[in-house]
Formats: sequence, structure tokens, C-alpha cells
Amino acid sequence: NAPSIAVVGVTGAVGQEFLSVLTDRDFPYRSLKLLASKRSAGKTVKFENRNYTVEELNEESFDGIDIALFSAGGSISKKYGPVAAKKGTIVVDNSSAFRMDENVPLVIPEVNPEAMVNLKVGCGKGGIIANPNCSTIICLMAVTPLHRRAKVKRMVVSTYQAASGAGAAAMEELVQQTREVLDGKEPTCNIFNQQYAFNLFSHNAPIQPNGYNEEEMKLVKETRKIWSDMGVKVTATCIRVPVMRAHAESVNLQFEKPLDEDTARNILKNAPGIVVVDDRASNRFPTPIEVSNKDDVAVGRVRRDVSQDGDYGLDIFVCGDQIRKGAALNAVQIAEMLL
Ligand code: A2P
Repeated sequence: NAPSIAVVGVTGAVGQEFLSVLTDRDFPYRSLKLLASKRSAGKTVKFENRNYTVEELNEESFDGIDIALFSAGGSISKKYGPVAAKKGTIVVDNSSAFRMDENVPLVIPEVNPEAMVNLKVGCGKGGIIANPNCSTIICLMAVTPLHRRAKVKRMVVSTYQAASGAGAAAMEELVQQTREVLDGKEPTCNIFNQQYAFNLFSHNAPIQPNGYNEEEMKLVKETRKIWSDMGVKVTATCIRVPVMRAHAESVNLQFEKPLDEDTARNILKNAPGIVVVDDRASNRFPTPIEVSNKDDVAVGRVRRDVSQDGDYGLDIFVCGDQIRKGAALNAVQIAEMLL
């Protein structure tokens, strides 16, 4: 019996991608409810040859819903996630609201599917499953296969993050600013408080007392939870770059056991959801453009870290579509595991 589905935040960048991914993967459903704010209520959305009317999200929205895919921001998830779960809905939440809650599984299907064994559609109980942060998903997709072989002791991540992570309005702002700057006009800054086009800046997440921003600390904390390894050392610097929808990350790794670069490349070639792009002769490595709208995370620049002794260190460069594997695809894969 196919599940009834709701998409919360359907007018947003990730919400729209939920629909594309559901179609692409031929996800079975018996009914589909599209939810957003009052502003969008009444709008028509065409999906798989049917017209749907967007409804305003409210406490009754989840009656009879088996699976709800949420991407309408943390405060909406905090308010409506538990309401839905109480009604027997299984929520797959893309926000950070519940990620560090010890009762909520934080899942990348290729990495830790075992974290959600207790939840299934039809088991009679609702619940919440969290989708990790986009940078964490893209990083751990590439690093986990290496971690399984040689155990990561320390990981240093530097990100180059796209506009999409800040939502559809941020993507529009990047386009608008690019036009304005080319036209010699002052760039309009609504979403970000500084010029984004032809620039880059430290990630816009709030800075914490320790000097890290929240995005950076998500990489630290979520990695520990997903790997169930409180001892792994992670540090990160997160930067917004004027790229539309795919994140890039430079990752430096220190291992407990030796792992040479050829073995690492072979492990990555055989890892699910990974494509290796590592052509030194023609200087072809992963780029955000090439992974945009793609499911796979691309990995390249696989090389021995010359600052570490022996084969205990590697550098890699990773690119992944933020809206797809970093958000919507991962959530739909989680939903598939619920069936
Ligand atoms: P709306 O378009 O009606 O504002 P993005 O991450 O791309 O900015 O998208 C955010 C999504 O969250 C949109 O679909 C937006 O709907 C939705 N949203 C924002 N506020 C609410 C709300 N109060 N109730 C339901 N959905 C909301």
C-alpha cells in the first residue's frame, strides 16, 4: 500500500527539488499534499500531470499523512514536526531543529542506515528523522568509505558554499546582484548583508562565542553523531561563494591506519553515490557546475598529504549538489528506507 505524502515548504528551493526527486525515483504514493505559508496558499503546482493546490500549513495538515518531507526552516519544523509525529506521521526534516536530539536519528542512507531501523511506514507510530546539514552530507559521502578502511583521527574541512543553501531568495539575489554589478549599479543586499556577486565571505550562520559559526560547528557535531564516534577531531571553515547550487569542500584527513592514495581512489570508485573525477594530466577535477542537478558526489585531487608522515594523511576535494544530495535526494532516500 503506497504511502500518503506531504511536502512542507513546497515553494522553496528544496521543496521544489523534493518534487523532482520523487518523480525521478518513481517514488510510490497514494496521495500528495503540498504545504507552504499563507502567502502561497491557493497557488497551483503541476506535478506528474496533475494540478495541486498549495495549502497553508496548519495543525490539521497531517491528518492521514504517512510521510512528511519538511523544508520550511527550523522554526516551522520545531512547531509542526512534533504535531505531525504525534498524529502518526513520519517526518523527514531538512532543518537543523532536531539533528542533535538524541532521540532523533541523523541519517545519510549510504553512511548510517542502521540509525533508523526502528521506523517504518505502517508500524503504527510517527517519528522524526533528521536530514544532516548539506555540507556534512557531501563531506561524509566522500570521507566515510575511507574512514571505514583507515579510521579518521582528525579532519579539517574548508567549504566553498553555494547560494542555494540560503534558499530560493538567495539564489535570486545572486542573479540580481550579478546584473547590477555588470550594469555599474549598487548591488541590492536583502538576504546577505554584503556584496555576494564577484565576492565571497564567511558563512552567514551566526558566530558562536568560540569564534566558529554555526555551520562550522554542525560539521563538527553532526560528524560525531553520524559516525557514532565522539572522539573524532573535526574543524571547519565555511565560506559562501557566488556559485548557484553546488557546494565544494577541501578536506584534509589524518588516519589511524595507513591508506595510500591509490587504495583511497579505488575505495572511492567503488563507493555508492560517489564519482571520482581525478585527471591530473588535463587538470580536470570536480566542479560545482558539473555536479549541479546530479545525484552523485564528485571526489578528486586525491593525494598524499606531504605534511604528514607515511601514508597517514590525505587531501581530497569534493563537490556535491547542495539541493539534491545535500538536501532533497538524501531526504527522499530516507523516505524510501521507511517503506
Ligand atoms: P512560502 O513560499 O509560502 O513563503 P527557501 O528555503 O527556498 O527560502 O523556502 C522556504 C519554504 O518554507 C517556502 O516554501 C516557504 O513558503 C516555506 N515557509 C516559510 N514560512 C512558512 C510558514 N510560516 N508556514 C509554512 N511554510 C513556510
